[in-house]
Amino acid sequence: MVQRQLPRPAELLELMQFKKPELNGRTRRLESALTVYDLRAIAKRRTPKAAFDYTDGAAEGELSLARARQAFEDIEFHPGVLRPAPELDTSVEILGGPSALPFGIAPTGFTRLMQTEGEVAGASAAGAAGIPFTLSTLGTTSIEGVRAANPDGRNWFQLYVMRDREISYALAQRAAASGFDTLLFTVDTPVAGARLRDKRNGFSIPPQLTLGTIVNAIPRPWWWFDFLTTPKLEFASLSSTGGTVGELLDAAMDPTISYDDLAVIRDLWPGKIVVKGVQTVEDSVRLIDVGVDGIVLSNHGGRQLDRAPVPFHLLPKVVKEVGKDATVMIDTGIMNGADIVASIALGAKFTLIGRAYLYGLMAGGRQGVDRTIAILRSEIERTMKLLGVATLAELEPRHVTQLQRLIPVGSPAVPARTPRTTKTAAKTSPRASAANGSRAANPAPPDIEVTGG
Ligand SMILES: Cc1cc2nc3c(=O)[nH]c(=O)nc-3n(C[C@H](O)[C@H](O)[C@H](O)COP(=O)(O)O)c2cc1C
Repeated sequence: MVQRQLPRPAELLELMQFKKPELNGRTRRLESALTVYDLRAIAKRRTPKAAFDYTDGAAEGELSLARARQAFEDIEFHPGVLRPAPELDTSVEILGGPSALPFGIAPTGFTRLMQTEGEVAGASAAGAAGIPFTLSTLGTTSIEGVRAANPDGRNWFQLYVMRDREISYALAQRAAASGFDTLLFTVDTPVAGARLRDKRNGFSIPPQLTLGTIVNAIPRPWWWFDFLTTPKLEFASLSSTGGTVGELLDAAMDPTISYDDLAVIRDLWPGKIVVKGVQTVEDSVRLIDVGVDGIVLSNHGGRQLDRAPVPFHLLPKVVKEVGKDATVMIDTGIMNGADIVASIALGAKFTLIGRAYLYGLMAGGRQGVDRTIAILRSEIERTMKLLGVATLAELEPRHVTQLQRLIPVGSPAVPARTPRTTKTAAKTSPRASAANGSRAANPAPPDIEVTGG
């Protein structure tokens, strides 16, 4: 029997420690987000459907993106225990400069469409956190505007080599003059991917006021207030070149770009050159051999070729071929700091975040981007501590196993399926059993297969 007593007022008082309510709605909202997926949920509530879908969506059946995210979820970590690590260091040296964290902000076009603070929020948040910010050729804040938002931090510029080469070269020269230290040459867009959500939404830039958009705007008045009371949405760095948005986009995608363009860019860009959108081991080896400063394994966040290779799966194979010293970076699908830790363990020197940053932006402007970075930082720190490492350099392939759902057909990794138990199948020859190894004893192939570290 439990012995009961009257509650004592002093003990009750001790229990009643009410937190001061947070009166600022934006702060309250952002503090309630504990993961990037939470920020995505807030972003979805606050952003008109067409703008949210433009950001959140990918190409065709969106399989490239789903598989990339799944690959990160299918990580198994192997922690070490009893390894004291009182001081944690999450900083890295990347492309000749420092970064306080092993990720930077990826280039994204039309960023002010998502939330009016756009690139200014991204660049200033990156500067405050000590990580690099990348401005897209299709950015909606000018090169000089980004420099002003992040005057002391690292800015990178993403280049689309356009049909009219002179426009691209002029942009690169402007970025160099504004102190941008790295150029990301994007090569996975010979043509635009088929973003079906955009087609279904009748998405346009600038957004058109149709009956549908007006109805959709009713629960999202602040987005429209911001949109209608701030400078016009346009390609800031390209605006002086004239042409409609459609013409500019068409001009940005050029199926004739080649290694010759890389050579020209090499001559005109004084800083580091990184090729973004590399998707095979062969191309990785060739690019490192011709002397680029780095490559980004990326399928553009699944927005171009659907059913493209998963960059995270490609990573260990590429690192094995190009060597540990080459600067291999990775993006697509990163939603958690643990994804970043796993990438570094498997040999990536750095990672980029696209949507994770944009969800924060849509959820709360600059403060929202700060929140994305804070969430990823705490996930990185916690994962490192739980793995028993104090620095990123201590992370090794032995810390991670990639569990694999989809197994390449015809590769040696294909498990030999045990035939269904018919009488004839049961009489498998001794040689076949030996070739099947231990799997022969396990009739049901598991859903998830494990490949080595
Ligand atoms: C809305 C949006 C716009 C993008 N615009 C560009 C761009 O202009 N240039 C570019 O090289 N990549 C662009 N990307 C691709 C990103 O740089 C990055 O590769 C991708 O977002 C990484 O995947 P994640 O979103 O899953 O992190 C864009 C991505 C998104 C989501």
